[in-house]
Amino acid sequence: MPEPASRKDTLFQTESVPEDFVFSERVVEVFDDMLDRSIPFYREVIRSTARLLQASMGPQDHVVDLGCATGTTLLELTRLLPDQELQFVGVDNSSAMLEKARLKSELYSKQDIITFIEEDITRLHRPETGAFLLNYTLQFIRPLLREDFLRRLYADLRPGGLLILAEKTISPDARLNREFIEIYHQFKRERGYSELEIAKKREALENVLIPFSIDENKALLQRVGFTSIATFFQWFNFAAFVAVKAS
Ligand SMILES: C[S@@+](CC[C@H](N)C(=O)[O-])C[C@H]1O[C@@H](n2cnc3c(N)ncnc32)[C@H](O)[C@@H]1O
Repeated sequence: MPEPASRKDTLFQTESVPEDFVFSERVVEVFDDMLDRSIPFYREVIRSTARLLQASMGPQDHVVDLGCATGTTLLELTRLLPDQELQFVGVDNSSAMLEKARLKSELYSKQDIITFIEEDITRLHRPETGAFLLNYTLQFIRPLLREDFLRRLYADLRPGGLLILAEKTISPDARLNREFIEIYHQFKRERGYSELEIAKKREALENVLIPFSIDENKALLQRVGFTSIATFFQWFNFAAFVAVKAS
């Protein structure tokens, strides 16, 4: 689906010392371009998510996207799953992100099946949810809060419900981790980011984006109650997991 034009991400082309990364209005303006050029196989993960939802969701199930940002994932899912009769809910605590998400959903006439809510996802309570999507967002939640947060999501899922989790991860092997990071930087260079932009973005995310390893993420999912857990996508340090609540 062609997206409404997002301004090109030039946030880190400046000479100034970067501050910690925040999802500010400046970020929102360029966010869709940033996602497409910074997250490997971003669209493929959404397509795979659609396949997983198709297999397990029933009519009227609620699919809740936590940290929905500008609504790209939900819009894409409405396009990929037109006959599933699902209700889509996007939650984010950034009003600027949600403003753009609402505009996009109106543009594509999806406002009747997608609802956007401004709320802190760690305080959300939505019992009997069919699926929670948590893409590239858990990594921004303070590590100490992650287990309680996931426990609440597990409790709120209906039996047989899904949690889809996509994250940037860290490899436990230091040498491979360095290589994977370099491969990722190459990916960004190929998409037009300069060395300076890559270095500054990395610095800005340093204290804000705290990645866990694939095993740590899986262990966390297991500790909060999920018994069926699998990685359905991996590209170097980027991974996506599906976890099912027992029926
Ligand atoms: C990297 S973006 C997520 C991208 C989006 N899930 C996607 O795949 O297109 C992280 C989003 O999480 C939101 N966010 C971070 N912490 C949050 C919290 N505690 N409650 C609600 N939203 C949060 C940010 O505002 C931002 O929009």
